[in-house]
Amino acid sequence: MSKILKNIHSDLAFTNNLINWGKSFGRKNLPWNPSYGKKIDPYKVWLSEIMLQQTQFRTGVKYFERFIKHFPNVKNLAESEIETVLSFWSGLGYYARAKNMHKAAKIICSGGKVNFPKSASDWKKLPGIGFSTAAAISAFTVNEKQPIMDANVIRIVARQHKLIERIGSAKLQKKIFIICSKHLPKSNSDMPIYTQSIMDLGALICRPKEPLCDLCPVSECCLSFLEGKVGNY
Ligand code: ADE
Repeated sequence: MSKILKNIHSDLAFTNNLINWGKSFGRKNLPWNPSYGKKIDPYKVWLSEIMLQQTQFRTGVKYFERFIKHFPNVKNLAESEIETVLSFWSGLGYYARAKNMHKAAKIICSGGKVNFPKSASDWKKLPGIGFSTAAAISAFTVNEKQPIMDANVIRIVARQHKLIERIGSAKLQKKIFIICSKHLPKSNSDMPIYTQSIMDLGALICRPKEPLCDLCPVSECCLSFLEGKVGNY
């Protein structure tokens, strides 16, 4: 098989295997996902993505549920005093996240109407929202095809492709962006499950220490696994 055909085959296998794994073994019943027949709420998705940065999953969920009870929609958040917002963030750390969310809520509610961004590039214009968070929010809310490149994804891709560039270097970012763009599913409607699955794979299987390669749905596409060198990446 030619190299290009082989690569296309393995990109497809990566995406399909990952999605199938996510459907069976990924995280379910996340409190920011809508119940059956209801529409996804961009406010809840945005809040969850911000809270889960630099925070353990279980702790993030606990804080999310408490926060949503007090500020059930973006208007409540925009109209609250920052001190009250911070009191519901107390203990989570990285308080700039709460301050930026409060500022962004005011922007979203300015002009008397609630106006959520409809694309990753518009989410990125709001305070506190970087490239990967914007991509995740728009993948979950409007099925936009954008690769997320958080620390979990960087680790997965570095192991898959045996990347040795320095973490944080522009060269590594560029390579990861190209690889992740090729992994995106064909159909926009698969973006939410794909994005959740790659996050879950990084957190549950392709862990920084003691990865569970025997349970990994994409180990057949992983060069460092095939060479027995996952620990090096
Ligand atoms: N970390 C950031 N976003 C997440 C999500 N949607 N699920 C699990 N972990 C995450």
